[in-house]
Amino acid sequence: MADDVVLAERDGAVAVARLNRPDARNALSADLMERLTGLVEEWDADGEVRCIVIAGGDEYFAAGADIKAMRDRSFQEAMTTPTAGYWPRLWSCNTPMIAAVSGYALGGGCELALLCDMIVASETAEFGQPEIRLGIIPGAGGTQRLARVLGKQRAMELVITGRRMGAAEAHAAGIVNRVTGADDWLEQALDLAGVVARRPPIAVRLAKQAVKAADETALSAGLDHERRLYELAMATEDRIEGMSAFIDKRQPDFRGR
Ligand code: HXC
Repeated sequence: MADDVVLAERDGAVAVARLNRPDARNALSADLMERLTGLVEEWDADGEVRCIVIAGGDEYFAAGADIKAMRDRSFQEAMTTPTAGYWPRLWSCNTPMIAAVSGYALGGGCELALLCDMIVASETAEFGQPEIRLGIIPGAGGTQRLARVLGKQRAMELVITGRRMGAAEAHAAGIVNRVTGADDWLEQALDLAGVVARRPPIAVRLAKQAVKAADETALSAGLDHERRLYELAMATEDRIEGMSAFIDKRQPDFRGR
């Protein structure tokens, strides 16, 4: 497996995965997904990593699944391909993940960005699920995650027509957290990741778990779940530190305990 299809970088407590198949517009080949998932799992298990950024290049976040590899795949192979397993593995990452999107995030590329916890997008970003033009439908969360964020009608249009959405529309629709200039999308994503990295890491993980539950449970079950996670946060040393620092009018020193 070629390691350079995803470049691993560290900026203090922030780990950055740079998708790097420019000749294929960062299409998500099995090699790329294997390497990306491996890196994310390695960082998720590393207590020093407090936030993960997934980025592409200036012109392409990712153009989706590798169509050249998919064309000759039989129905039976599609049913049994191990590549389907990468998505739930990425989704189960407990460390916050930020997608830094510049240029095209299409098909699986859009789904990868939607799987992240936040999206910082350059004004050049274009999101879309063009699978319908290929005779397929999104298969890594596009229909489900878009419908949850956009509502059924707007998700339906994107999925059934394959229309792309620019950064401003994606921001207005609630998919994108921040729209940046064309030159500072990565810097701004790293800034946001830096803020997350300075927060108490156990509480951050509990918060991520709690917010994710909102999409998956009924309100009363979600509220119960939130309460249990809140009680766990109350058992940490970091919350004593956070509250003491507030009362003492000083900066907190969170240790992840
Ligand atoms: C494989 C791809 C690719 C892809 C681009 N390339 N996208 N190869 N899979 N998804 C390759 C092209 O074949 C070409 O190879 C080279 O990259 C440059 O592509 P161009 O089209 O010439 O580049 P450009 O004009 O800059 O247009 C960029 C683009 C366009 C708008 C992103 O490439 C595009 O529409 N790509 C397909 C997007 C798409 O349909 N995605 C959905 C995939 S299905 P050569 O050899 O000619 O240089 C999917 C399903 C997910 O994602 C299911 C769950 C996993």
